Amino acid sequence: MSCNLGGEKSLVISPASKMFPLNELSQFFCNRQLCNHCLRVANYAAFLARILGLMEDEETTIYLAGFFHDIGKIRVGETILCKPSSLTTLEREIVEKHPVCGALVLRGLGLKGPLLSLVLHHHEHFDGNGYPARLSGEGIPVGARILGVADAYDAMTSPRSYRRVLSPEEAIDELKRCKGTQFDPVVVEAFVDSHPYLTRHTGQRCLVG
Ligand SMILES: [Fe+2]
Repeated sequence: MSCNLGGEKSLVISPASKMFPLNELSQFFCNRQLCNHCLRVANYAAFLARILGLMEDEETTIYLAGFFHDIGKIRVGETILCKPSSLTTLEREIVEKHPVCGALVLRGLGLKGPLLSLVLHHHEHFDGNGYPARLSGEGIPVGARILGVADAYDAMTSPRSYRRVLSPEEAIDELKRCKGTQFDPVVVEAFVDSHPYLTRHTGQRCLVG
């Protein structure tokens, strides 16, 4: 038997991936680096949702989805996530399962609706070359398009074992370079226009440490 997560394109998940969501929630909160990344992404994304004119309930959903967007990385494990060298094909496939795993963890906690869809689709690309469902353009939920930009900016400007930290200016240049391919151009423009205010008032807040 298999279970269907739903979303714009349905994804069928093996029940073998079912674990204990409260244990995973606990592990998530114990991972300071992951939690701080997620909190910054949540704040960036909620701010972008507001300046893009989304409704208040959508902003709240995007904020919560931003905070939990990478909870599925708990199932990937530190060995792969912190690997300083290139990932193997298998390791990359495991990493690319984290949006599905995250949606499953949240569903196991009783959450449902658009929040799960945003977590599931936060790595889709505007040109259809992302994952897990290869959605494209406005077929990607707007909240997921917002999360994609917020997530990428924070990932580029935060320390990672496999590459150097980019300056805010370099990260902005990268967002612009990938506008229309990886990222929604409208969201990138909103981010670039509001960047000084946005990073000063949202990105510096950390949950712990
Ligand atoms: Fe992610």
